[in-house]
This record gives sequence, structure tokens and C-alpha cells, in this order.
Amino acid sequence: MAVSALFDSMAGSYDESRRRLVPCLEEFYGTAVEVAAPPLRAALAAGRTPEVLDLGAGTGLLSLLVAAAVPGARLTLLDAAPAMLAVAGGQLRARAVAHHTVVADLADPLPPGPYDAVVSALAIHHLDDGGKRDLYRRAHGVLRPGGVFVNAEQVAGPTPELDRRYHEVWLAQVAALGSEPAEIEAARERMSFDRPAPVRAQCGWLREAGFADVDCFFKSWRFAVLGGHRSGGPGDGG
Ligand SMILES: C[S@@+](CC[C@H](N)C(=O)[O-])C[C@H]1O[C@@H](n2cnc3c(N)ncnc32)[C@H](O)[C@@H]1O
Repeated sequence: MAVSALFDSMAGSYDESRRRLVPCLEEFYGTAVEVAAPPLRAALAAGRTPEVLDLGAGTGLLSLLVAAAVPGARLTLLDAAPAMLAVAGGQLRARAVAHHTVVADLADPLPPGPYDAVVSALAIHHLDDGGKRDLYRRAHGVLRPGGVFVNAEQVAGPTPELDRRYHEVWLAQVAALGSEPAEIEAARERMSFDRPAPVRAQCGWLREAGFADVDCFFKSWRFAVLGGHRSGGPGDGG
């Protein structure tokens, strides 16, 4: 089964399980929103509608948080799982957030934008390393100068021993948060599709793609928030 079909099959229960399966949920997503927000607020101040592209948007968790932090932003949610996007559409409509959804693979050409922010959470680790590098280049290409890219991601440990430790810690944390064995088993099945890469390699690929001020803005074991911005905005002095 393709990974998007696995997510589609759990679209109705996905949001509810997140609090148990992502131990640092609020800081993790909250940091991604803080990284994404400045160019969106700058667009509003300039009298423009801020445009955001959410890659692997799923049920819209990150899109909803961005929309709440920057009212007036317009969201484009891209995902290969139509049932996940249908849940997202319902939640965004209920909050009167301007948006549209695109059923597509992350390997497909991106909607052209230009975007003030390209955001993503827990999706890009489904691509192999070549696919991640290529997507980082394409994300850079659809951003406006000064726009930001942020990826709240599941990463690999820098060594096999640390990677094993990340998994051990995650298992203990999700059990402490009340996740039942069946839920953990289903998550492990989805994780068999994961191809996470270490923070250091990914920051290198972001720089190689042309991003400036690349950083890891948050990290707690296997959960990390990485990003950078496209040069040439008003703050770059050019
Ligand atoms: C763990 S969910 C994350 C959803 C959402 N971003 C969030 O933070 O809750 C991963 C999402 O990535 C999507 N996905 C995985 N691989 C994909 C691909 N190659 N192309 C498009 N979407 C993909 C899945 O369909 C799923 O909705």
C-alpha cells in the first residue's frame, strides 16, 4: 500500500492521535509557525494577501496554525491523499480561511506561486534523499525573494546508535502519553515508509538549494524544525 493510502485510511482519526504520537507537538508546530510568520506579516503590512504553500498538508494541522497566527493568509495545501485533504478543507472552511487543495505527489512540479512561505510538517521524510534535495530546490524556486521555507520534520540520528536511541525514547514518550499498543503498531507500520535524514545533511541541502540563514530552530530527539529564507527581500539590503 502507498503511504498516502495508509494516511487516507486513517484520515478521520488522524488529528486526535497526534497529541499522543508527537510528544513535543506544541513547541514543534509552534516553532514552525514562528519561523514562517515574519514574511507573511510583511506581506499584510505591504497590503498584499500572504500566500502559503503547505507540502504534505494532510488534515491541515500546520495550515490551521499558520492561518490562526496570521489571519488573512491564503493557503495552498498539497498532498497525495485526497481523504486527508478533504478533512483539511472542512476544517479550513469552518474557520473561513481562504484556501485551495491540490492532490499531487511531492515529486510533481509545484504550483508556481510565488509564495511568501512554503511550509511542511512530517511529510518530506517520505522522500528519498535525492527527492528531498530536489524538493528543497523546487521550494526555493516558488518562493518570493525574502520568502521563508520551514520543514517541521522527523529526522534521523547522526549515528546508528543515536537513531536507535531516538526510537527508544519515542516509544517511551508515546506510551507515557497514553498511546495504546495498536496505535503504536499502526504508527510503526506507517514509519516503515520513512526515509528520515539527519539535521546536518538536510541543512546542507537547504544551503545547496540556495537558502540563506539556514538553521535548525527546534529539536527534541527525532523531531526537528529546519528552514531558511530566499535572499533578496527588503531586509537583505538589496
Ligand atoms: C504524517 S502526515 C503529516 C500531515 C500534516 N503535514 C501534519 O503535520 O499533520 C504525512 C502526509 O504526507 C503525505 N505524503 C507522504 N508522501 C507524499 C508524497 N510523496 N506526495 C504527497 N504527499 C505525501 C501523506 O499523504 C500524509 O498526508
